[in-house]
Amino acid sequence: MRIVLGVGGGIAAYKVASLLRLFTEAGHQVTVIPTEAATRFVGVATWEALSGNPVSNSVFDDVDKVNHVRLGHQADLIVIAPATADLLAKAATGQANDLLTNTLLMAHGPVLFAPAMHTEMWQHAATQANVETLRGRGVTVLEPASGRLTGADSGPGRLPEPEAIFAAAIALAGVETLPATSQAGPLAGRVVTISAGGTREALDPVRFLGNRSSGKQGAALAAAALAAGATVRFLAAHMDVEPPAGVELVRVESALELRQAALEAAADSDVVIMAAAVADFRPAEVSDTKIKKVDGEDAPLVRLVRNPDILHELVERRNAEGGQQLIVGFAAETGDAQGDVLEHATAKLKRKGCDLLVVNQVGVGRVFGQDDNSVVILSGHGAEPQSAAGSKADVAAAVVDRVGAELARVFPAT
Ligand code: CTP
Repeated sequence: MRIVLGVGGGIAAYKVASLLRLFTEAGHQVTVIPTEAATRFVGVATWEALSGNPVSNSVFDDVDKVNHVRLGHQADLIVIAPATADLLAKAATGQANDLLTNTLLMAHGPVLFAPAMHTEMWQHAATQANVETLRGRGVTVLEPASGRLTGADSGPGRLPEPEAIFAAAIALAGVETLPATSQAGPLAGRVVTISAGGTREALDPVRFLGNRSSGKQGAALAAAALAAGATVRFLAAHMDVEPPAGVELVRVESALELRQAALEAAADSDVVIMAAAVADFRPAEVSDTKIKKVDGEDAPLVRLVRNPDILHELVERRNAEGGQQLIVGFAAETGDAQGDVLEHATAKLKRKGCDLLVVNQVGVGRVFGQDDNSVVILSGHGAEPQSAAGSKADVAAAVVDRVGAELARVFPAT
């Protein structure tokens, strides 16, 4: 489909380069229109190289092609990211003082805004009124993500992850306009179950034992699997990001809930990817009421019991039933006196019996919650280890590619 990608003048413009790649890799034709301010963050050359199309923000370039009318008319979808407070205001009031705002007034297809700005600007009554006006006209304005902003501040105002914008855009454009590449993608017709995020093990009604998993890598995997044509069942434990639109979503809290959901979803899945950080232990007793401190008494001791190993159980069930299902595990390793990261991971692959193991090297400040990742993919079927690095979308695309290749190799179509 033909997409116009309008880029606003905000620091998050650099993240839109990944969004552009998701669109082009899925086979879409993208015309990028950056605002004047956007080109101060990311230059025209970058947009031209990544989109393969000429880029301008002026109504006075190529006047014979009547771009200010044609681009909006022809676009099947217009996506604005980052949508700054200024762009939202211009769109809400129908201004037309550059190529992008002209194009918005000529839109014939759906329009999606992915806002990014400081929390106070987002929450300002003027911005909220503009958002309401746009939504009232049938325009989709995504909620910004919450988290660290450009300065030391944090709150709602971050650009949603490129994978989330991509999935929302595809869903908005409608299934019938999905690109041919998705319908004939490497996972077309396949059902893929993906678990993501971190489980929370209750201590009492207000407290839990949790972990630092953000769910970003799992969300990126789901978006990549959708783009490859799969039906995706997404089992979401606690996540800092929204699952991509277009998945069959099941929310879970604890390891036991995830186990139940995973066994059900996997029963007729072609692929299971366990990207969730599952707690190995849970409190032996869960108090029905809030545990209180009592003056003069010792602090309570928390006794833990082992959680079932879901990945191992899925592999055992698959093996017992002789099913043609590809099972992928994730491992977070640090390396220690007993062995380096790859030695530990190779032992884990054997122990778990899965087909692929995606290995992360973790440590303070690495992987958890970060936007970039670097992994090694180990195969239980003798293939050479494969490295993948880059954004979590890049890593997800590499894992999904490998899943497609491994499916064809281990379970060739009969
Ligand atoms: N996993 C699982 N059930 C558990 C624990 C983990 O299914 N109870 C899955 C995870 O989703 C992941 C893989 O197993 O795919 C990670 O294995 P795990 O043994 O937990 O590895 P680490 O967390 O790296 O822990 P450790 O090194 O302590 O074994």
